Amino acid sequence: MSTDGRPVLQVDDLEIHYGLRRRRRRVLHGVSLSVARGETVGVIGETGSGKSTFARAVLGLVRASGGRILIDGEDVSRHSPRQWRALRRRGVVQYVFQDPLRSLDPDLTVEESLIEPLLVQGVARKEAIERGRSYLARVRLDPELFGRLPGELSGGQRQRVAVARALVTEPALIILDEPVSALDSANRVGILEILKELRDAGVALIFISHDLGSVAGVADRIAVLYQGEFVEVGAARAVINTPRHPYARLLVGSAPTLRSAATRAQREALRAELHAQPDRAQSDHAQPDHAQPGHVRAHA
Ligand SMILES: Nc1ncnc2c1ncn2[C@@H]1O[C@H](COP(=O)(O)OP(=O)(O)O)[C@@H](O)[C@H]1O
Ligand SMILES: [Mg+2]
Repeated sequence: MSTDGRPVLQVDDLEIHYGLRRRRRRVLHGVSLSVARGETVGVIGETGSGKSTFARAVLGLVRASGGRILIDGEDVSRHSPRQWRALRRRGVVQYVFQDPLRSLDPDLTVEESLIEPLLVQGVARKEAIERGRSYLARVRLDPELFGRLPGELSGGQRQRVAVARALVTEPALIILDEPVSALDSANRVGILEILKELRDAGVALIFISHDLGSVAGVADRIAVLYQGEFVEVGAARAVINTPRHPYARLLVGSAPTLRSAATRAQREALRAELHAQPDRAQSDHAQPDHAQPGHVRAHA
């Protein structure tokens, strides 16, 4: 891993469209974000704002129609599928999805899931197993679970395995798309603790959530996505204490655990202000017109 000052991720003016011809519509518009080495950036936005699309673009799962994506200084925007495969094999960027069954292969035991990315890199099996085991401790999972299938684990355990799997290649960046949204509150707290430890250990994280409360305690910076555009990006404290864009103010005002929670009347006023704005992203809030990409394997 290089240690110079360049960001681990730099996204410039990203444009993403879905659909063809008359169904074509813009989902991300002029999105720019840079993530420094070891930094945790929270990406917050309502359902349909384009958060997962942003994650998929950085992982090479959807093609940009404009803009640039640099991973560790390398422009990946025009990468072919074969170049993406090579990049994934290096394991510089890893991912954790809301549903661990999408980041884990249901037919692989915990052990196989954890060692697979290492075997793909050519690490010897014995060493891969040792390394895989060491990451179980890091996500506070009992080594006894090593032989289990994902279907034999609880949701919280599965998500810990997904985090451990993301860690084994010692990535410079992990993208977590709603990693705690499907978990009960105890597991949520457990995963958030692990994410804080990762951040403190110097792994850069992009933590995507619709819930500002989850992100607030982990993120160094917060980027607010609204209808396909980042309407506010700043230090977490600044965004939470003095949000400027009406949508950011509404988010902060609606988070009951944050100090600056607004009254109901204030929230209604913000909503009125938001709806008075012209639509920014030509978004008609339609449902996807074809299925989401399914299960993603690291070596896919
Ligand atoms: N595969 C797809 N094809 C067409 N439209 C899609 C597809 N995936 C998502 N969309 C649409 O793009 C917009 C952004 O979706 P998404 O990135 O999943 O948002 P979020 O993760 O913030 O909920 C939504 O309007 C959604 O309906
Ligand atoms: Mg999403």
